[in-house]
Amino acid sequence: MDRIKVGIIGFGRSGCNIHADAISQKKDLFDLVAICDELPELRSHQEFPNAEAYAKAEDLIADPEVEMVVVSTYNYTHAKYAIQALDAGKHVLCEKPFGFTTADVDAMIAASKRNNRVLQPFQQRRFASDFEAIQEVLRSGVLGEIGFVRICWPGFGRRWDWQTSRVRGGGQLYNNGPHLIDYGMELFGDSDPVVTSTVRNMLGSGDAEDEIHVMLQGEGAPQVEMIISATCAFPQDRWLICGRNGTLRGTGTELEWKYVDWSKYPERKTDMNPLPGRYFCSEDLAFTTGSWKEENTGNTDGGAGSNPASAPALKLYDTLYRAIRLGEPQVITPEQIRRRVAVLETCYRQNGIPFPEGTRQ
Ligand SMILES: NC(=O)c1ccc[n+]([C@@H]2O[C@H](COP(=O)([O-])OP(=O)(O)OC[C@H]3O[C@@H](n4cnc5c(N)ncnc54)[C@H](O)[C@@H]3O)[C@@H](O)[C@H]2O)c1
Repeated sequence: MDRIKVGIIGFGRSGCNIHADAISQKKDLFDLVAICDELPELRSHQEFPNAEAYAKAEDLIADPEVEMVVVSTYNYTHAKYAIQALDAGKHVLCEKPFGFTTADVDAMIAASKRNNRVLQPFQQRRFASDFEAIQEVLRSGVLGEIGFVRICWPGFGRRWDWQTSRVRGGGQLYNNGPHLIDYGMELFGDSDPVVTSTVRNMLGSGDAEDEIHVMLQGEGAPQVEMIISATCAFPQDRWLICGRNGTLRGTGTELEWKYVDWSKYPERKTDMNPLPGRYFCSEDLAFTTGSWKEENTGNTDGGAGSNPASAPALKLYDTLYRAIRLGEPQVITPEQIRRRVAVLETCYRQNGIPFPEGTRQ
């Protein structure tokens, strides 16, 4: 195999625990040849002892050995390093958020086109097995037309790292928001949504939001609500999907759904009079049920906490290898993720949050 030689900028939780780990599991396809971090103690990996260590992103980007650059630095620096690396002739795998604004993403796409290099957004959770199971149920059509979707990531706890600080582009909109909004937009469809959002800081030590509510609405599309909470101490379903024929609910590891076949029931014409005998509309519905359970718990949670890197990350690396070496179409494209960034940008503007320095507006 003609392995792709990778350099990683930002060797923290994501750079090391997700990307180096994925590369270590895909050694037939990728090799880690360079590591860059501002912190000297983080510039190495035991499985890649020969990887060149860099203090400055610019130096890693200039390394002729490096063919592909992973950008896993602070949120507000992604577009800058992605563009520098593309202009240096490297392919780029860029962590979420894939830029702060559509202007950021446009500049990244332009750099990818003018240098004829692959620009890959890292949205590995698209390949999470719970979401893949949901897509299969939706494709089967058993739930009928979908009117309402709720995606909920609850939790109760404080954070005090840079992800709570606006200066570094922290906050849940651009931290875990890109995962939820990717799911939400996949379920919403191809039209542009009307976006409504509220954000607040409840427990985080910094000035950025740790709770977000985002709603997508539009003609002929389901209403999609997305919630990330820092103050929800009781478990909640991650998924609720309501359609004309039935409903799906569940967590990242277990889903269930049930639906009716309306063709088996008599037509109901609107009766403009009170029903006889003060009767309330009611009919016995026979539901057909379905369920899904995660067999391999590594598959759903694709985040930096899963070690070894989980199946979603590995799947994304497979698609990326095929895009770079075989010229296959990317499964997750920059243009798709641009539409998600447009939603995030709208939320930022709606809530009057100043963009971090360097953001293209
Ligand atoms: N896709 C996912 O599931 C996922 C999970 C975790 C983090 N992330 C993303 O990865 C990025 C990093 O997050 P993290 O949790 O790994 O944070 P982290 O703080 O653990 O790591 C960031 C590292 O980058 C280094 N760094 C920052 N700017 C640098 C620069 N200019 N040059 C060299 N090194 C630099 C820091 O020293 C630090 O070690 C964020 O954008 C985050 O959104 C994605």
